[in-house]
Amino acid sequence: MLFASQAVAAETPLYLDEDAPIEKRVEDALSRMTLREKVAMCHAEGKFASAGVPRLGIPDLWMSDGPHGVRAEINWNDWGYAGHTNDSITAFPALTALAATWNPELSEAYGNAIGEEALYREKDMMLGPGVNIYRTPLNGRNFEYMGEDPFLAGELVVPYIKGMQRNGVSACVKHYALNNQEVWRGHINVELSDRALHEIYLPAFKKAIIDGGSWSIMGSYNKVRGQHACHNELLLNKILKNDWGFDGVVVTDWGGAHDTREAALYGLDLEMGSYTNGLTSESEFTTDHYYLANPYIEMLQKGEVPMSTLDDKVRRLLRLNFRTAMNRRKPFGSVATPAHYDVAEKIGNEAVVLLKNAPAVPKGQPLLPIDPSKYSSILIVGDNATRNLMAGGGSSELKVKDNVTPLAGLEALYPGKIKYTQGYAAGRPMYGHADNIPAATQDSLRSRAVQMAREAGLVIMIGGLNKNHYQDCEGGDRLEYPLPFGQPALIDELRAANPNLVVVLLTGNAVEMPWADKVPAIVQGWYLGSMAGKSIANVLSGTVNPSGKLPFSFPRRLEDNAAHHFGTISYPGDSINQEYREDILVGYRWHDTKKIPALYPFGHGLSYTTFEYGKPTASAKTMGADGSITVKVPVSNTGSREGKETVQFYIGDEKSSLLRPLKELKGFDKLTIKPGDTAEATFTITPEALKFYDPASSSWVVEPGKFKLYIGSSSTDIRATLPFEYK
Ligand code: GLC
Repeated sequence: MLFASQAVAAETPLYLDEDAPIEKRVEDALSRMTLREKVAMCHAEGKFASAGVPRLGIPDLWMSDGPHGVRAEINWNDWGYAGHTNDSITAFPALTALAATWNPELSEAYGNAIGEEALYREKDMMLGPGVNIYRTPLNGRNFEYMGEDPFLAGELVVPYIKGMQRNGVSACVKHYALNNQEVWRGHINVELSDRALHEIYLPAFKKAIIDGGSWSIMGSYNKVRGQHACHNELLLNKILKNDWGFDGVVVTDWGGAHDTREAALYGLDLEMGSYTNGLTSESEFTTDHYYLANPYIEMLQKGEVPMSTLDDKVRRLLRLNFRTAMNRRKPFGSVATPAHYDVAEKIGNEAVVLLKNAPAVPKGQPLLPIDPSKYSSILIVGDNATRNLMAGGGSSELKVKDNVTPLAGLEALYPGKIKYTQGYAAGRPMYGHADNIPAATQDSLRSRAVQMAREAGLVIMIGGLNKNHYQDCEGGDRLEYPLPFGQPALIDELRAANPNLVVVLLTGNAVEMPWADKVPAIVQGWYLGSMAGKSIANVLSGTVNPSGKLPFSFPRRLEDNAAHHFGTISYPGDSINQEYREDILVGYRWHDTKKIPALYPFGHGLSYTTFEYGKPTASAKTMGADGSITVKVPVSNTGSREGKETVQFYIGDEKSSLLRPLKELKGFDKLTIKPGDTAEATFTITPEALKFYDPASSSWVVEPGKFKLYIGSSSTDIRATLPFEYK
């Protein structure tokens, strides 16, 4: 006689048993599904939802943008916002800011916090993080990514993914791959060498998959070597699923699928956002016309593509569902909590980069941190001092519960001392076009600001880009390298009116700074989200000692950037094809190797204290295939206040059979040191750190010979070098 519990147990199908091995659950569920149920799982059923199996009690998968927070609810069948009143959240700093912290622990805290907010908003998958390499300062979406160096991006994307997925929420690392611009993003065909692909553009994705364990990945809109990235035999079948052993789900970018046969055969698992007639225009909503919908069923029934292609997709989708939507062990999450605001503020504190900090007048003190006792009044100038920079920018835009603007942050610190004027107008946050502000308006705003600057003790100009179209926004690249809306002229005139001028740039990209030599203090403030004003005020006031380091180079001129050195075929391409002719020499690799100094180099960032590097020691001078060399560097805080210093380790191959950059980042160690104390940075050199991709053998190789370890406070501020040999 069966007891009730046994009777129930006997009825509970294996796929619903949380204690059963996941692969057995997958096979059990698969065996129960019909052809149509399987195909339905492979494409959207709503703008941000894909089908489960109602008959089997397998829930839909719900997903949301974006990398910096959980986007407001979107309508079921179009891009409009649903107008809910319960979907305001925390906006965390943009990923360029996270990269500027060089702090993996903060990255894990970031992933965990955004994962908790996603849980509370009942999302199974977050469409982020992004790790496309920063190739040109004009790319409209660089603010969503982690800079120009694959090692730094890889080191920081892994903890973000782990922190998020710990909550039972899937990361979806994007945009795989070679989506390094927004111009013609939907079809441009990127041509590049195997070395550039494997040494520059894939490593951060590889770490996200192999070390981070991302449960999903988003194919990019563009083509790679002639095939759309969303169904690409090389990128998806060969590299991602075969070589890297990816067991998760490949999702299209929204509208990234273009062909049923290729989608069936070349690695796509989940088609999202295609136009409903599967071709060119949105029509009355039905996803039956999607490439992986009725056309797929037809090809399967005719035997034109094997059923195994469908079963592989569905196994991956079921696995994802069991890890997320059907994961009963996950917590319930939370939104806009003090803990999440604390994470956002901490990341902002460590992201802000002090680019320059000089006296305003000869023999004076550096302008920062602010000493309020020196000034009768402090004038804040700039649209970005009050702008909601979480609006605009495209799919990563957010509806925040709270927004501490830089002006609010500074007013809280210096009550009664702050005056404000807009200085320039930037128009409404846009996704699709930018407001044209009449010159007369800009002129009057500028002249008022200059007049007020003459009467102020200290002037803080808070400008930059601002998520309008063409100003750090998805769907279009920037049209010019200089700051927009007349800011260069404003900065020049403010400087002429008052030498005590601090310029704070809120951007996700490098910008031209012809005024840099004249302005005593310059701060890169990023897009820092809900707590931006607190972090910026913390750093300007000295409450926090800045420790941010640039995750990408600031070229003095646009033509000093590698992508812009080889004409339009290199950037933005000829509207059909594009060639990455700088090859592996991206960012500081270009500036170092071609001896074209950047205005502010990769890894640069000042502090309010000073650090002295002692003599490095090494455990050996030579190493072999199974060896390693551990290097230790004493670093002393020789200033008067505690600070954080990121010691950077670059490796250069003194002689190689193929071209290699002068040096490449292979390690870093962020130290917190009290004044007068000495701490020790350590780095272990392994053979992995010496390898380059050999196209002849399609493998990573290291050649015996002499190498050099560069130990630096930036990619150009090298404090010590250590020669060693690989035998
Ligand atoms: C957009 C973006 C992608 C985003 C998706 C959904 O076009 O390229 O990053 O996650 O569509 O909004």
